[in-house]
Formats: sequence, structure tokens, C-alpha cells
Amino acid sequence: MKIAILGGTGDIGEGFVLNWAGNHHIRIGSRKADKAEAAAESYRGTLAGHEMKGDILGFDNMTAAEGADVIILTVPYKHISGVIDTVRPVLDCQIVISPVVPMMKTEYFEYTPPTQGSAAEEIRDMLPEGICVVAAYHTIASGRLCSLDPTFRCDVLICGDDRHSKDVVIDLTDEIECLRPLDAGPLAAARTTESLTPMLRNLAMLNDLKDPSIKIL
Ligand SMILES: NC(=O)c1ccc[n+]([C@@H]2O[C@H](COP(=O)([O-])OP(=O)(O)OC[C@H]3O[C@@H](n4cnc5c(N)ncnc54)[C@H](OP(=O)(O)O)[C@@H]3O)[C@@H](O)[C@H]2O)c1
Repeated sequence: MKIAILGGTGDIGEGFVLNWAGNHHIRIGSRKADKAEAAAESYRGTLAGHEMKGDILGFDNMTAAEGADVIILTVPYKHISGVIDTVRPVLDCQIVISPVVPMMKTEYFEYTPPTQGSAAEEIRDMLPEGICVVAAYHTIASGRLCSLDPTFRCDVLICGDDRHSKDVVIDLTDEIECLRPLDAGPLAAARTTESLTPMLRNLAMLNDLKDPSIKIL
């Protein structure tokens, strides 16, 4: 598949690039094409260091999204609407994955959902009809994903209303050795899964934990 990773120059974006580049055509998106090209070169170097190869190219966000089968929005919540506006002209029938978590930190991390109930539902409302949104990966720390450590195991809670799109994301998750995909219900359930991220960040802060994630026993 062609996978566009918008904001793929950032922390969690890198993790998806490194883990999917062996099996898919990866298109890193950025506000600046040259930044995405530099990231692509750097990620190819990382893979080479693990004796792995990857098909990774860098583009501006709109070019990355054009013709992609799957788009993942690895951009902070407050910039999502701007990025969606940028790629709107090339949105067609791509599956859009949202790992986006709206949260703020005062003394502790707090979930700050929009009126729609979750970032995923707000994103669905911003997109043209026919584009399916799947919410996933909120509880996966970028450090874990980038480490390419297959011995680490954690679960990915996946929410969506369209069976086919959800199955595509389940299969993509299954390809990453350290992750187990779990169906967590409809898109409306994303408000629960998104809210776990501030909980994990508070647990990390208060208990000196590094990159805590979720595993269902
Ligand atoms: N980090 C994690 O461990 C983690 C875990 C689970 C979920 N998430 C979610 O994944 C998303 C990305 O998190 P992250 O930590 O990877 O973010 P990040 O590294 O802070 O930023 C990702 C990318 O966002 C782009 N960006 C920054 N400002 C922007 C703006 N004004 N307009 C458009 N794009 C902008 C940048 O790309 P360019 O400069 O190249 O455009 C940047 O590289 C967030 O929604 C977060 O809630 C993160």
C-alpha cells in the first residue's frame, strides 16, 4: 500500500515509517518538502543500521497524501485542522488513521476533548463524505515504536465505524511485531481510548516510568 504519514518528520511518525517501510511505499509528509526528504534519508539510514531496507520518500503534505491508500495524521491536535485543509483537494477515498490526542498539561495531563466527543470524531466531521476514519495507536509511545525492539509487546486499541477500514488498520498493526491489534468498538469509543494517553503520561510523571504503554491481560 501507499501510506502517507503526515507530520512524519516528528516523533511517532518516525516509528510508523521505520516499522512499515519494509512492506509498503512510505510517503512522509511535511509542511516543507525538503524537511521530509531529509527525514526520509535519515530513516533509510536508521533501517540500514538494522540491516533493513525501506521504500521511503519525502514530500510536502499534499503531495504525500495524493494517491495514498492510507493517511496517518501524526500531527499535534492543535494543527490538525490546518493539515486537513492543506490536503483536502487530494482527498478521495483514503483511509485516515488518527492517533491524535487532545490534551493539556497544568499540574498534570488532562484530556481535553472537542464537543464532538473525541479528536477522531471531530476529524471525521472535517473530512469529505466517504473518507473513513480509524482511531488507533494513542497508547503507543514513540520511543517504543522507534526502538524496533520486537521483544516489547503491547496492545493497540482500534476504533472505527467502517469494517473494511478497521480491518486494514488491524492488518497494518499486526505487521508490527511488538504490537497486538484489538478491536475497541465504533469511532464513538475513541473518546475512551484517547483519554488513556493523559493517564499514561501522569503515570510516567508520578512514578518515574519510561514510555508506559497498555497491555490487556
Ligand atoms: N509522541 C508519541 O509518543 C505519541 C503517542 C501516541 C499518539 N501521539 C499523537 O501523534 C500525534 C503526533 O505526535 P508527535 O509527538 O509525533 O508530534 P511532534 O513530533 O511534536 O510533531 C509532529 C509533526 O507535526 C508537524 N507540525 C508541527 N507544527 C505544525 C503546524 N503548525 N502545522 C502543521 N504541522 C505541524 C511537524 O512536521 P513538519 O514540521 O515536518 O510539518 C512535526 O514534525 C499527536 O497528535 C499525538 O497526540 C503521539
